[in-house]
Amino acid sequence: MKTAQDVIEADLQYICGNLKSEFSQMAGKNLLIVGGAGFLGYYLVQAVLYWNKTAGTQPIHLTVYDNYIRGVPEWLTDLKSDPNLVLQRHDITHPLPEDIADFQYIIHAASIASPIFYRKYPIETMDANVNGLRSLLEYCKQQKDAGKPVEGFLFYSTSEIYGDPTPESIPTPETYRGNVSCTGPRACYDESKRYGETLCVNFAEQYELPIKIARPFNNFGPGLKITDRRVLPDFARDVLAGRDIVMLSDGSPTRTFCYIADAIVGYYKILVVGHRGEAYNIGIETPEISMATLAEKVVELSKELFDYQGRVVRQQSDDKAYLVDNPNRRCPIITKARNDLGYDPCISVDEGLRRTMIWYQGNQVAEDA
Ligand SMILES: NC(=O)c1ccc[n+]([C@@H]2O[C@H](COP(=O)([O-])OP(=O)(O)OC[C@H]3O[C@@H](n4cnc5c(N)ncnc54)[C@H](O)[C@@H]3O)[C@@H](O)[C@H]2O)c1
Repeated sequence: MKTAQDVIEADLQYICGNLKSEFSQMAGKNLLIVGGAGFLGYYLVQAVLYWNKTAGTQPIHLTVYDNYIRGVPEWLTDLKSDPNLVLQRHDITHPLPEDIADFQYIIHAASIASPIFYRKYPIETMDANVNGLRSLLEYCKQQKDAGKPVEGFLFYSTSEIYGDPTPESIPTPETYRGNVSCTGPRACYDESKRYGETLCVNFAEQYELPIKIARPFNNFGPGLKITDRRVLPDFARDVLAGRDIVMLSDGSPTRTFCYIADAIVGYYKILVVGHRGEAYNIGIETPEISMATLAEKVVELSKELFDYQGRVVRQQSDDKAYLVDNPNRRCPIITKARNDLGYDPCISVDEGLRRTMIWYQGNQVAEDA
């Protein structure tokens, strides 16, 4: 793979190849993705449109709602002439449009995920995860009452609901209850996701609705715009500008990094075959690496790909809260998703990083929002 386009093509083929049965089940139906203009939206949207073009079945009719609080991405605007895509500017914290269609599948991905930005918009973040979610759940109930039932609903929670797990709870199973601050700088995100999950399980149970929950663990890859301020785009921005990589922690926190193409397969599997009222970890079990190791990997890879001459340097962030409540270790157990859904992430972190850096080379410009 040499160009960003090669990477996208390979990823879309991989995603659709692993979702044949799920996408076949969705063929001819209406899918709504709320918050589809973000990082996860990038492949959630493109995978469906790629399936429509290549599978030779009835198309999946896709509608995207987004309030574009993180900007209007060019990749999405470029897709607007697709006959099976409707783009609608809509803020999910406002009442749903009166002319809303009958959707059989709904994905609620509308919540700012980058810590720098959700701390800038804490109230909006809570509202999207609680009030926005609530109106979508009410819609599911109304549709059921009207005899037009929703067949699958996916709410994006987060691995952050576990907070900073105690050592014996790492790697972390879905049954771990969490160690989370309810007033710290990340609480607007973590706590609204926790309450969002509570809303989901109770709507699922009380009204017998097919509502499921994903807990993503550190996804990375194409679609995560270079201005996002999460760690990997920051590193890529430094590399592609020919600067040293600036690390804003001491490099010791560890994570397992799940390449986006694998994660997207997991999300659609939850939507279609996940169990009602259940939450699934979506990530990868190994390797658990430190931020310092991640930075070194990016340096080595960039030497090979771009003849990069830089190195890793440490700096303190100007933002005093940058690392407050940042978990020291994060690593999932994904046995439940493997067993219930057949989720089986196969793309290694090294291969994922290679694809990601190639993609960033072709996507160096993005709105700073
Ligand atoms: N990327 C990850 O690794 C990760 C990890 C944990 C959880 N998640 C969750 O997955 C979901 C998607 O994450 P992402 O990385 O794509 O986030 P993102 O910030 O890149 O994108 C979120 C999108 O939602 C939109 N949005 C925000 N508030 C909205 C509102 N009120 N109405 C309509 N649209 C709104 C934004 O404009 C943006 O397009 C989020 O719920 C996030 O919390 C992601």
